[in-house]
Amino acid sequence: MIEKNSPIKISISSGKGGVGKTSITVNLALALSERGLRTLVVDGDMGLANVDVLLRLDPAATVRDVMDRGKDPLEAVVFLTPHFAVLPASSGVPEMAALGADEHERLGTLLRHMGRRFDYLLLDTAAGLGPSVLWLNTFAQYRVIVVSPDPTSVTDAYALIKVLSKDYGCDRFCLVMNSVGSEEEGLQIFENLAQVAARFLQVNLIHLGSIPHDKAVIRAVRSQQFILKQSPGSVAGLALRSIAARLEKMAKTMD
Ligand SMILES: Nc1ncnc2c1ncn2[C@@H]1O[C@H](COP(=O)(O)OP(=O)(O)OP(=O)(O)O)[C@@H](O)[C@H]1O
Ligand SMILES: [Mg+2]
Repeated sequence: MIEKNSPIKISISSGKGGVGKTSITVNLALALSERGLRTLVVDGDMGLANVDVLLRLDPAATVRDVMDRGKDPLEAVVFLTPHFAVLPASSGVPEMAALGADEHERLGTLLRHMGRRFDYLLLDTAAGLGPSVLWLNTFAQYRVIVVSPDPTSVTDAYALIKVLSKDYGCDRFCLVMNSVGSEEEGLQIFENLAQVAARFLQVNLIHLGSIPHDKAVIRAVRSQQFILKQSPGSVAGLALRSIAARLEKMAKTMD
């Protein structure tokens, strides 16, 4: 069973950059918070913060101030609603992009401490397979892997799953196929990946759903808005809501 006062920790990564991790993270977090779940988005892109930009926040402090300068973690957290908060990262700080083992340990302690106030922690990660991406994935209980129809996105997602499963013993990979042309295309990508992961890595992938390519997403990102607020009835908005519901159901039924 999930320990009391311990949130469900979910990382969102992809290997390849620019496939929609950050926009998916913030909108899933909004959907979960609207379902009454206290949700904290952690900007895990430590060197090139994304979340504050996407939500047009002007953070007074970042995770760096907490880690390096002993700032009270709650001063760094921005509450957008009583149930939705963001822990911003710092941007343009190379050393934050390359945290060492000790710093990851401290970050883990910090997130565990802050996490007690929340039901869900969504950890938005950087692109690539860097140490912080790997650490955030091992810290999480569930790993959402975002994949687009680009062949390089599929091979990068597979590479990430391979490293995490073989070298770090991770499982519970939940696939979101983003920017798909059709439901069938999303399913096809999932089935291909699931087949090779089962055969070569002995890992079962979990199907969370697909999000269509939708101009509403591009519009929302450009105007720094939530898709779920700006275009709640859009195909991408509806898909995001059903993925949030599936995520919640999955987390409730798995220990
Ligand atoms: N379903 C979609 N339909 C259309 N465009 C999309 C969709 N999802 C994401 N995009 C576009 O992809 C771009 C990248 O999105 P986002 O910043 O969320 O990706 P990311 O994976 O977090 O990138 P990075 O690796 O740089 O952190 C955005 O400009 C957005 O407009
Ligand atoms: Mg991002």
